[in-house]
Amino acid sequence: MKPLIIAGNWKSNKTTAEAMQWLQDFSGQNIPAHISVVLCAPFTLLYTLKERIQVDALPISLGAQNLSPFPEGAQTGEESARMVRDLADWVIIGHSERRKNFAETDDILQKKVEQAHRVGLKVIYCVSDDIMPIPPVEVVAYEPIFAIGTGIADTPQHANDVMKNIKARSQVAKVLYGGSITDRNVALFVSEQAIDGVLTGKASLEPIEFCNLIAAAAHS
Ligand code: PGA
Repeated sequence: MKPLIIAGNWKSNKTTAEAMQWLQDFSGQNIPAHISVVLCAPFTLLYTLKERIQVDALPISLGAQNLSPFPEGAQTGEESARMVRDLADWVIIGHSERRKNFAETDDILQKKVEQAHRVGLKVIYCVSDDIMPIPPVEVVAYEPIFAIGTGIADTPQHANDVMKNIKARSQVAKVLYGGSITDRNVALFVSEQAIDGVLTGKASLEPIEFCNLIAAAAHS
């Protein structure tokens, strides 16, 4: 079976108590060996999640959703790559919500990727088409804007075509599809040849829904 990455992006959601409840509900589930689960949580939750994941030996890698484009130092309100690396293995960079709502340009994103790689953080770099610049990274997520949070996913065939172009252009080894993925449509996406997994927002918030999604992907 082809190895798959199933990444959850909690965005700006969950208190510590809610995150602990999520982990408790998730912990009884059986995750097949060919599935890598990456949970991208807010900074405020990473420490507690990391501790609990270690104690319970859960099959989850942690990711952050952002990091500072600057090295550590006098940057009020910023989390430097070194601080993030303390708590996570992955970081999402270039999500369309950050590009749009926080005016993150390709130049800023390039600096963030450099900071991440300096400390060994693996990057999930988001783009909304196959034209946008892509720095050298471990994983690219193709997330068409129209599909994010709308309930209207791209078609698996079109996503596959775009992701083939992304792979050819960027030489990135792994590409995820993101945008309105659910337990009902995930199998169609991960069955496509160029698709190595998914990045899910809404469907990752409820542990049972997320586990159903993982199960559906695993059996595709
Ligand atoms: P969605 O979000 O699954 O809620 O559409 C995906 C994302 O923004 O990464």
